[in-house]
Amino acid sequence: MAVSRRQVLLLGAAGAVGAGAMALPLKSVEAKSASRLRDADMPRPYRTSLVQAPVLQPDGEPTIDPEDGKPVQRYTVTQRVGTANILPRLATPVLGYNGIFPGPTISVDQGTKVVLRVRNQLPAAHPQYGHVLGTSTHLHGAASLPQYDGYANDVSNPGFYKDYHYENSQNARTIWYHDHAVHHTSLNAYSGLLAQYHLHDPLERELLPQGEFDVALTVSDAMFARDGSLGYDDNDHSGLWGDVILVNGRPWPVMKVKKRIYRFRILNACISRSFRPRLSTGDPVTVVATDGGLMPKAQQVASWRHAGAERYEILIDFRKYRTGQRIELRNLSNRNNVDYDYTNRIMAFDVVDDGFDKTDPTWNTLPTVLDPENEVMALKRSQSTRKRRMRLKHDDVTNIWTLDESTWADIIASGFQQVFADVDLGAVEIWEFENKSGGWFHPLHIHLVDFQILSRNGRAPFAYELGPKDVVYVGEGEKVEVLMRFGPHRGRYMIHCHNLPHEDHDMMTQFRVGKKAFEPDENDPIEAARPVWDE
Ligand code: C2O
Ligand code: CU
Repeated sequence: MAVSRRQVLLLGAAGAVGAGAMALPLKSVEAKSASRLRDADMPRPYRTSLVQAPVLQPDGEPTIDPEDGKPVQRYTVTQRVGTANILPRLATPVLGYNGIFPGPTISVDQGTKVVLRVRNQLPAAHPQYGHVLGTSTHLHGAASLPQYDGYANDVSNPGFYKDYHYENSQNARTIWYHDHAVHHTSLNAYSGLLAQYHLHDPLERELLPQGEFDVALTVSDAMFARDGSLGYDDNDHSGLWGDVILVNGRPWPVMKVKKRIYRFRILNACISRSFRPRLSTGDPVTVVATDGGLMPKAQQVASWRHAGAERYEILIDFRKYRTGQRIELRNLSNRNNVDYDYTNRIMAFDVVDDGFDKTDPTWNTLPTVLDPENEVMALKRSQSTRKRRMRLKHDDVTNIWTLDESTWADIIASGFQQVFADVDLGAVEIWEFENKSGGWFHPLHIHLVDFQILSRNGRAPFAYELGPKDVVYVGEGEKVEVLMRFGPHRGRYMIHCHNLPHEDHDMMTQFRVGKKAFEPDENDPIEAARPVWDE
């Protein structure tokens, strides 16, 4: 059945395309835009400046935890409706942490515990999409206890708050918090419920640029309705591809850079789109950290494949460029994305001649050895005691995505007891993900652990993947092996595709660490820490 992309989008919007048609691989791209904006309202690349999300201020001075003597810092964010200024003339309603998109960045040191109070002050139903706005907050990239991990069914309804406890005992890393509400993660994250969270440690502070030269880039895509509100079309759960690329909530922004080395924490926060970023000069960037923090060794690459939820920290060396030169961060794209006129660009850097402090050695040092003893990367294949296989599939009859033939509906139906795997605490295992379909890619995310990518189709992983990860790009026809140790907590944790329309329909399952089915669980993900009515 030959359906052009333009037709698919139009039919999809009218709700007239059946599951069968959508199970086809995405091919032709004829559409000029996905947004329905008037021409004058449509943003264009490089007309606005890069902004940073504000850093969240703590609620007062830290206290000391009497049990272990560690400092505890309290924070509060309120989920509410807000307005974003994304388009030149129109305002865009969003749902945001503190009403902003992206939400405020949390920045903490290793060893400082955090209690994050998430207040749900959202309306009872989503103003545009109509679903109930119970939320669940996941700190993606942290080893949290199950009851603080944003388990999909651990929802806090409007009018309630929940205190999430984070230990921050792991190594430095770029992580993020986002909504994880059962079956509505995609709509809620797309509506704006996401933000970065930076965990610092002494090694990372010594090796990598800090402060103004440590730049968070949250990249997402969007499509807009005529009135400036966010359009949503997930093409019958195959994915949403917006025609507008946003960085920190601004369309294709420009950043002024000095002639030194900068660090960028790039989070792909798109619900479906993957990127292949590349500098317009063709010069390589230096990848220094992956999802789980510093790599053993820095890797130079000219471009990389970057799916939703993956984080890559890169260094760009602007020393050799001329004052006034513009360097673009372009997007070469990957298979099975839908591209539009300007989706081949992400943002631009304009080189300026301003001075800076040259006593800071990170200004001209491109480190090579970073974290050679990283625990995850030191694991050996021979340490694993078990190999499990999981197949990533689409059921063309029901239009449901499955992991190992199971869905989250199956997990719910089992009273949250069914698991993909029962794993011993401390066990080292290899999990192999197989995506036989040529029509889709799936960024697979395992909660709780960091893993090492061992192989892809029997070959070595890409150079930029040689660091600790919690999401792996399982491309078309690929078979990927990952190696990890399970811990430090016992309990049930989710595993899912991070193409969020896939996750919600219904490509998510769970595993259990160090417990048996129906055994009393003091860390039950739903019961152990209930939300509280907010007076
Ligand atoms: Cu970022 Cu379970 O997700
Ligand atoms: Cu998927």
